[in-house]
Amino acid sequence: MIQIKNLNVNYEAGGERYAALKDINLELAAGETCAIIGPSGCGKSTLLKVLAGIIKKYDGVVEINGQPITPSQQRIGFIPQNYGLLPWKNVWENIRLGVKIKNKKNNDDLEGLDFLIQQLGLAGLENRYPGELSGGQQQRVALARSFLLKPDLLLMDEPFSALDAMTREEIQNVFLLAWRKSSVSTILVTHNVEEALYLGQKIVILSGIPGTISQVIDNSLFGVEDIRNHRDFFQLSLELRKMIKEDWSR
Ligand SMILES: Nc1ncnc2c1ncn2[C@@H]1O[C@H](COP(=O)(O)OP(=O)(O)OP(=O)(O)O)[C@@H](O)[C@H]1O
Ligand SMILES: [Mg+2]
Repeated sequence: MIQIKNLNVNYEAGGERYAALKDINLELAAGETCAIIGPSGCGKSTLLKVLAGIIKKYDGVVEINGQPITPSQQRIGFIPQNYGLLPWKNVWENIRLGVKIKNKKNNDDLEGLDFLIQQLGLAGLENRYPGELSGGQQQRVALARSFLLKPDLLLMDEPFSALDAMTREEIQNVFLLAWRKSSVSTILVTHNVEEALYLGQKIVILSGIPGTISQVIDNSLFGVEDIRNHRDFFQLSLELRKMIKEDWSR
């Protein structure tokens, strides 16, 4: 279970101190997926960085299964907004990096690696370096790394943003497949309402600067087969868009 209580995050820049997140309260059950949607600058990436243990200076309580965030003890898979690949390592090495760090020794947990490489359309690119890949290909390498890690908590910051519509749908399905297998607790940030409906059991609308949670929606369409052709999908997308619009114009 993920528990966030009265979370406040402030940044200091140029001698000024300002709030990025204000009074965030959120609870996610183990194995749940949550999509966070909100305008640019409202603190989405900041929230993921707190959960990833990268931002350590904050007020409030942030816990995974009752334990404070400690990346050395929990398996946290984090895909940052810029993919987080090491430029001097090739695709193969970048994908294995997560499990390698976690397992310390060299007995990599490589189960499912070939499957992931196939599913994510990375076959043939194993020896290339990030600088020799397109943005979407880099994004898929980052996904492969995180899926392979089988983390306790998976954090993804706009993980599908660089993919074209068709590839995006395919990779979303690869994610759902991986999620169904291991039901890893997942929080993903997205700008895309349809994506939030497709991938989020819970949908959190963040708004304002500093960011506050304005709505938490239980998504009745999650897991419904062929959701995009479901008659309620269109209706719910419209409603969600309307909520977000009203929220952001406030
Ligand atoms: N390291 C930092 N130092 C100072 N201010 C920061 C830092 N990182 C982010 N900010 C500021 O904090 C606020 C929240 O930033 P954050 O990156 O979390 O937003 P976001 O919701 O992820 O935006 P986007 O949708 O554009 O990615 C912004 O106003 C940003 O300028
Ligand atoms: Mg961001």
